[in-house]
Amino acid sequence: MNIYTFRDEEQFVQTGANLISSLLHTNPRAKLGLATGSTPVGLYAKLIEMNRQGLVSFAQTTTYNLDEYVGLPENHPESYRTFMNEKFFNHVDIQIERTHVPNGNAADAEAECLNYDKMLEEFGPVDLQLLGLGHNGHIGFNEPGEALSGGTHVVELQEKTRNANARFFPTLDDVPTHAITMGVATILKARQILLLVRGEDKAEIVHRALKGPITTQCPASLLQCHPNVVVLLDQGAGRLLV
Ligand code: F6R
Repeated sequence: MNIYTFRDEEQFVQTGANLISSLLHTNPRAKLGLATGSTPVGLYAKLIEMNRQGLVSFAQTTTYNLDEYVGLPENHPESYRTFMNEKFFNHVDIQIERTHVPNGNAADAEAECLNYDKMLEEFGPVDLQLLGLGHNGHIGFNEPGEALSGGTHVVELQEKTRNANARFFPTLDDVPTHAITMGVATILKARQILLLVRGEDKAEIVHRALKGPITTQCPASLLQCHPNVVVLLDQGAGRLLV
C-alpha cells in the first residue's frame, strides 16, 4: 500500500488526477470504477480542467460507479447518476452510454445486481477503482458487520451513514434507507485502487482501516489484502498515521 499525505489541497487533488490521466495516456480504453460523495468532487473538477486543456481524454473510457440509492428517481438531484452527470460526465468528452451507475429503480433489484456483476465480469476488471471512506469504515456502501457480501447487492444503510448523508437532503427522513452497491469482492478485483480521504474527522477510521486488523467490522481494512492500493490523504485524515 502506498500512502501519501498532503498538506496542500491542490497537490492532493493534482496527484489523484495525474494518476488517472497517466493511466489513460498508457491505455485510453482503461475502465474506471468511480465514486460519489464529497471527497472526489475536487478530483473531478481537476479532471474536467485537464480535459478542457487537452491533457486527458475520456473518449474511449468506460466507467462503472460503485453504488446508487434505491428508490430515488434517476433525475433526482441527489441520485448518484445526477451527481456523476453534473460533477463530471457532462463536462468531459466521455460517451455517456459508456458510463454505468447501478439502477436504483429496477423493478427487480436482485436481478439488477446480478446484471451489474455480469457486466463487470464480461468487461472488467476495472483498471482503477476510485474509493472514498465512510466514517464507519465503509467502502462503496459495504457497511461494517459480522459478514460482508462479495458481489453487487442491495444494502440497508446504517444510521451513521444516513446521518452523514443527511446534509444533502432536506431532512433525515428523505435520505433513502437502501442502496445498491458493488460488493467487496467486486471492488477488490480492480487492478489498482485509489483511495482518497480528507478531514480530521476521518483520522481514526483511516488509522483503523490502514493499520488495524483486517476485519468485516471495518470493510476498508480489506484493502490491506490488495496488492496495488494508492492512498491519498490530507493532513487531517493522515494525522494518526505518523
Ligand atoms: C460513494 C461511496 C461512499 C463514499 C463515502 C465517503 O460512492 O461509495 O463510500 O465514498 O461515504 O463519502 P464522503 O466523500 O462524502 O465523505
